[in-house]
Amino acid sequence: MDTQLARLSRGASPQEDSFAGNLLAGLSKTPKEIACKYFYDESGSRLFDAICDLPEYYQTRTEMALLSRHAAEIAALMGEGVEIVEFGAGSLRKVRILLDAACNPRAYTPLDISGDYLCNVVRSLAADYPALTLRPLVGDFTLPLEIPTLPGPMRRAGFFPGSTIGNFKPDAAMALLRRMRSTLNGGGLLVGVDLVKDPVRLHAAYNDAAGVTALFNKNLLARANRELGADFDPEGFAHYAPYNAAAHRIEMYLVSLKRQSVSLCGQRFDFAQGEPVHTEDSHKYTMESFREMAARAGFNPRAVWTDQDRLFSLHWLESR
Ligand code: TRP
Repeated sequence: MDTQLARLSRGASPQEDSFAGNLLAGLSKTPKEIACKYFYDESGSRLFDAICDLPEYYQTRTEMALLSRHAAEIAALMGEGVEIVEFGAGSLRKVRILLDAACNPRAYTPLDISGDYLCNVVRSLAADYPALTLRPLVGDFTLPLEIPTLPGPMRRAGFFPGSTIGNFKPDAAMALLRRMRSTLNGGGLLVGVDLVKDPVRLHAAYNDAAGVTALFNKNLLARANRELGADFDPEGFAHYAPYNAAAHRIEMYLVSLKRQSVSLCGQRFDFAQGEPVHTEDSHKYTMESFREMAARAGFNPRAVWTDQDRLFSLHWLESR
């Protein structure tokens, strides 16, 4: 069993692709922005796991219940001896449901941007599934990637839960689906997609009473202080996450509470009082609008499952 962490080769230049490079570029823009993939260092990944357990964050529980309820049907669609490739694997909690139901899964290939975190969670998965070939890959799944095929005939199935697809603008989401389709070599893709619904409910999911989401958002600043020696005052920024109903998305910002300047890698950045830094979008779809997008990305949308309250959806897309 090979649980060595392999690093995916990088397609982008190190400058664009590093936290420092992204921060310097993003904070020089008007309006300022930071790419959301930098949320997920080890402490960000842990904070995100805490978000998934929050009472307001219905997405994780609902998706897990859908996976459990339809596991046998999903396993049949994936087929026997499949290699499951998970994009942005996180805590690996969800895939256990699939692995338990799958018929003789050949391999599990989790991709994640946080190497330290992936290493820990893969170790505990390996202990629970001793017969499974594990191929953890550290890297950014938004960059073009080719995963070497295992010897012998084998089908791949992609797994992309958590409505991470919603964190991309529709054009980028479509491009990402196209790239996944080519990574999967003709295999299908199981995607979790959060649905449009009562804006009050959506708002609550990204503005929890305990303030965990605020800590998660501000972890970007704390991470810049830890890793890059920046001097952000996390208390000088507010977490702000309104729902933009016209664009069907939650928009997340860090808003400067005062006029302040921050130094980062020898450069100074000025923030006006009330100035926003955009950190993430979370787009919501209807079941139909997501199926249309998947079809435009070259998939045949097949089965779709949702809960009684139509909070969340799971889509099985076949490559064509
Ligand atoms: N994919 C998750 C979502 O859009 C990511 C997420 C949930 C998130 N809560 C967050 C990202 C809070 C940043 C901050 O629902």
